[in-house]
Amino acid sequence: MIDKIKELIGEAEAFTTDNKDTLDTFRIKFISKKGLINEIFAEFKNVPNDQKKEFGQAINSLKNAVEGKIKLIQDTLESKEESIGIFGDLTRPGTPINIGSRHPISLVKNQVIDVFSNIGFNVSEGPEIEDDWHNFEALNFPAHHPARDMQDTFFVQMNPDYLLRTHTSSVQVRYMENNQPPIRTISPGRVFRNEAISSRSHCIFHQVEGLYIDKDVSFADLKQTLLYFTKEMFGKSKIRLRPSYFPFTEPSAEVDVYWGLKTETDYRITKGTGWLEIMGCGMVDPNVLKASNINPDEYSGFAFGMGLERMAMLLYQIGDIRMYFENDVRFLEQFKSNF
Ligand code: PHE
Repeated sequence: MIDKIKELIGEAEAFTTDNKDTLDTFRIKFISKKGLINEIFAEFKNVPNDQKKEFGQAINSLKNAVEGKIKLIQDTLESKEESIGIFGDLTRPGTPINIGSRHPISLVKNQVIDVFSNIGFNVSEGPEIEDDWHNFEALNFPAHHPARDMQDTFFVQMNPDYLLRTHTSSVQVRYMENNQPPIRTISPGRVFRNEAISSRSHCIFHQVEGLYIDKDVSFADLKQTLLYFTKEMFGKSKIRLRPSYFPFTEPSAEVDVYWGLKTETDYRITKGTGWLEIMGCGMVDPNVLKASNINPDEYSGFAFGMGLERMAMLLYQIGDIRMYFENDVRFLEQFKSNF
């Protein structure tokens, strides 16, 4: 036993470290509740009386050796710390913070929201899984109507039908259910269609649709709002409306913006015409107002809808729509400087 204690004294005397944690382990090993010194003390009662004195002295020297060593190392560590200062070397380089980037679709979405919120539109959202009523029926697409073919989608359940929404016009139906005119809202969101995937189209894409309903809203209001938008968004002030068809608007139109023919890219993206189609629009069909309990004799309104992928392709010169969904960081990192 005495030999064991002497060995431990040797160990304590030889011990050295400049690390706080190692010092702590050393302390716990020797003088914690379950440490070696207490363990040895517990043996004291079994020691024959004539050896008790020597045994006691040995333990005391061990204790002193350990405590002395801890104090010594603590003092050296503390004085070292003092000379470095509690914050360490203030001139050392900081820990780098890796700043991510927004997805180009989010960038364009936020821009569109900004432009419309400046003229009093709020933002509304709704579910991506929709029922037939909100996606089709209330928007004047009767069951089996051929217009449904334009927006074939993925059905989650049949009878009753639940499907992935084909446009965010469904959000506008929900908005009309819960709000009375005047209504001025835009609905950004992800939509789905059963489309062949190519460089120009995808089965997933994003839209921002807008709805304005009030007394005496006219086609002139629609046109002026669109002109304001194209000026703010693209810096282009020439638009044209081409007659078109949507079940939920009458009359309906496609909006083209005059992009110009200054560069080779202009020629390519406008197919040599200078004009680019950017969205669909029209005056809200009275049947749509009726379906949402808004009196069409009292109120009128306009609606429009645009695809964000195409817009981001234009603004950032992205050549292939599939790139948006591939999560390739080399692609995404290019947008770091934009917020
Ligand atoms: N909902 C139409 C679409 O997805 C776009 C649109 C909205 C057209 C509003 C006219 C009015 O194609």
